[in-house]
Amino acid sequence: MLSALAFGSRTLQSASRSRRFSAFAPPRLFDYDTITKNLAVTDAIDSVEAAFGALARGKVDVPMPMHIGIDESDAAGPGDCHIKGGYVSGTKTFTVKLACVSFYKNVEKGLPPGCGVFVVVDAVTGAPLAIFQENRFMTDLRTGAAGAVAMKYTTRDQGNTVGFIGCGAIARNMARAAASVRDFQGVVYALDGAEDFAKEMSAELGIEFSVAGSGEELCEKSNVIYTQTPGSDTVLELDWLQKGTTIIASGSDQPTKQEIPSDVLKASKYIPDLVKQTSKVGELRGAIEDGLMSEEDVYCELGDLVNGKVGRETDELIVVDLTGTGAQDAAIGQVAWDKLGAL
Ligand SMILES: NC(=O)c1ccc[n+]([C@@H]2O[C@H](COP(=O)([O-])OP(=O)(O)OC[C@H]3O[C@@H](n4cnc5c(N)ncnc54)[C@H](O)[C@@H]3O)[C@@H](O)[C@H]2O)c1
Repeated sequence: MLSALAFGSRTLQSASRSRRFSAFAPPRLFDYDTITKNLAVTDAIDSVEAAFGALARGKVDVPMPMHIGIDESDAAGPGDCHIKGGYVSGTKTFTVKLACVSFYKNVEKGLPPGCGVFVVVDAVTGAPLAIFQENRFMTDLRTGAAGAVAMKYTTRDQGNTVGFIGCGAIARNMARAAASVRDFQGVVYALDGAEDFAKEMSAELGIEFSVAGSGEELCEKSNVIYTQTPGSDTVLELDWLQKGTTIIASGSDQPTKQEIPSDVLKASKYIPDLVKQTSKVGELRGAIEDGLMSEEDVYCELGDLVNGKVGRETDELIVVDLTGTGAQDAAIGQVAWDKLGAL
C-alpha cells in the first residue's frame, strides 16, 4: 500500500512537472475596520460550539501552539509571536493564526504593542483564501464564544447573577456572548475599568450591571463568575463562593498565570477546554504543581458537554478552564470567510 502510494505520488510529481497550471487567485485581504464592522461574537457561538463537539470526538487537528521569541537587539524586538491553528474535519477551510504581542518598543513610536492575522485556507486546494488583519479581534470573539458555550452547558436556565472579575476586552466579549444564551443581571469587579464596563455594557446589552467593591462581594452576589484578569494573582477564594456556583476562567493561557486557587479547582467538577493545554498553561497546571490534582480529576472536556454529557446536575461547584484552542480559531476563521468573503 505504502509503495503504491509512493509510486502514485512520484507519478503525480512527474505529471505536475510536465503540465502547465493556471495560478491560484491571490488571497483577499480584509482590514481591521472591515472585520470589526461585519463580525460579532454572536456570529461565532454556533460554530465554536460545533468545533468543541468535534474536538472532543477527535475530529479536529489541533497542533500544540508554536512560539517564536524575538529577543531585544539593535535590529529587533523585544516581542513574542504565538502561532495557533486547526482544521475541523469535514469543514471547507482551515486556519493558521499569527499573534504578535509584547512588542513594547512600538508604544514609543505611537504603535500598539500587538497585532495579528488569521490566514484562512481552502481545505480542498490548500490555497490561502483570505488574510484577516484582525489584531486579536477575532481571537476575542472566539474566546467570548467559548464562554457562551460554557454558560449554556453548566448553568441553570434562569435566576442567574453573573459576576465579571476583570473588565477588559475579554470581559466585554464574555458579557455579550453570555447575554445571547441567558438572561441575567450582572456584577463587576476589577482593579481598573469596572465603572466604564458597567456603564457601557448596560447601555449596549440593556442589562443591569452593578459594581462590587471587592472580589469577595462579587462572589457573594453571583452564582456564575467569569474571570479574565492577566492571571498575576488569584482573584477569589473557596469560602467566598455560593453553593452551585459556575466559574468560567479564561485569564490563564500561559504557564506563568493563575486566577483560581488550587483548592477551588480541587473542590470542583473541573471542565477544561482541552486538557492537554490546561495542564500546561491553564488553571490545572497550578493544581498539578501543588500536588492537589492530576489529569485523572478532569470530569470531562467542554466538547463532551456539547456531545451529550451532563454539565450541571445539582448544586455542585463547577470550574470551566478556557485556554483557547486551535479549534476555536478554525471555527471563527470559517465564519469570517463565510461572512466577509461574500461582501
Ligand atoms: N483563554 C483565552 O482563550 C484567552 C484569549 C485571549 C486573552 N486571554 C487572556 O485573558 C486575560 C485578560 O485579557 P484582556 O485583554 O481582557 O485584558 P485587559 O488588560 O483588557 O483587562 C484586564 C482586566 O483585569 C483587571 N485586573 C487585573 N488584575 C486584577 C486583579 N488581581 N483583580 C481584579 N481585576 C484585575 C484589570 O483592571 C482589567 O480590568 C489575559 O490574561 C489574556 O492573556 C485569554
